[in-house]
Amino acid sequence: MLPFALALTGCGPKSDSAAPVAAPAAPAKIKLGFLVKQPEEPWFQFEWKGAEKAAAEHGFELLKYGTPDGEKVMAAIDNLAVAGAQGFVICTPDVRLGPQIMARAKQKNMKVVTVDDMFVLPDGKFMTDVPYLGMSASQIGESVGQALFAEAKQRGWNLEETGVCLITFEELDTARERTEGARRALEAAGFPAARIFKAPQKTTDIPGSFDAATSLLTRQGGVKRWLIAGMNDNAVLGAVRAMEGRGFGADSVIGIGINGTDCIDELRKPKPTGFHGSMLVSAPFEGYETARLLHAWVKDGKQPPLETRTPGIFITRENFESVLKREGIIQ
Ligand code: GLA
Repeated sequence: MLPFALALTGCGPKSDSAAPVAAPAAPAKIKLGFLVKQPEEPWFQFEWKGAEKAAAEHGFELLKYGTPDGEKVMAAIDNLAVAGAQGFVICTPDVRLGPQIMARAKQKNMKVVTVDDMFVLPDGKFMTDVPYLGMSASQIGESVGQALFAEAKQRGWNLEETGVCLITFEELDTARERTEGARRALEAAGFPAARIFKAPQKTTDIPGSFDAATSLLTRQGGVKRWLIAGMNDNAVLGAVRAMEGRGFGADSVIGIGINGTDCIDELRKPKPTGFHGSMLVSAPFEGYETARLLHAWVKDGKQPPLETRTPGIFITRENFESVLKREGIIQ
């Protein structure tokens, strides 16, 4: 490391003995990567922002990569190794890549912290030996279900004419835990189980949930009002758009998302839409904390906790500006 730093800063030994003695070069900064599966999603941009803050505060260099597939993940790890990085935080595009990612990281002598999506083994069990930080998915999903039920009650909706559009992505555990939580809470509150309809999304973005909801609407033409839940804000937003296309607006749709980062423009619209609110989880905190934990691990050998869970806060059009300001998500 040192000769490289010397060469870069031009502080190498000089032949002119009269020259003042150069101060020793500053030690090279620790370099750490931060890889995310969907860099276009505000959620991940806010995580990066939080990680940048940790880098500035703790004096390390952060190298960010958008890695939407396995090939890109492997290429990013190789790039990081060439750059001299000593570890990375990752939200993987596919949780089943976990063992492969860990093998490559080990080969390159890098430490790994996972965020949001926990790695799984070929038998479907979680890789609990890799430090993980993410939301309390089941609980947050339950809060969505409870809030949906409370809002429908408050509006005096007849549940017999109401359906639940549950946008699911069950191949991802954190997503399944959230939507199952919502389903469980709705049923526990007394919503008829037979009127909770799953609509699987093929891709975890707005077009994916739009398509899933559109095909559900075709199958369930008799429903007069809809409650919508999904794994995140985009899952609910796509369904809200699909419903608008079929004439269901703010008076006949209650959608509640998760993340709170990807619905800011929606909640700012002058007229309310079917997107009623979201369970906000602090993406900047998740980015900050995972990067900080990784840095302490690399620098001081301090092992991060194997599992850290973060809570959700309910935001609606009424309180989102003040809550998002307090959380440092908007100015
Ligand atoms: C998953 C989702 C993201 C976000 C995170 C939060 O990765 O794809 O939108 O909800 O979980 O943990």
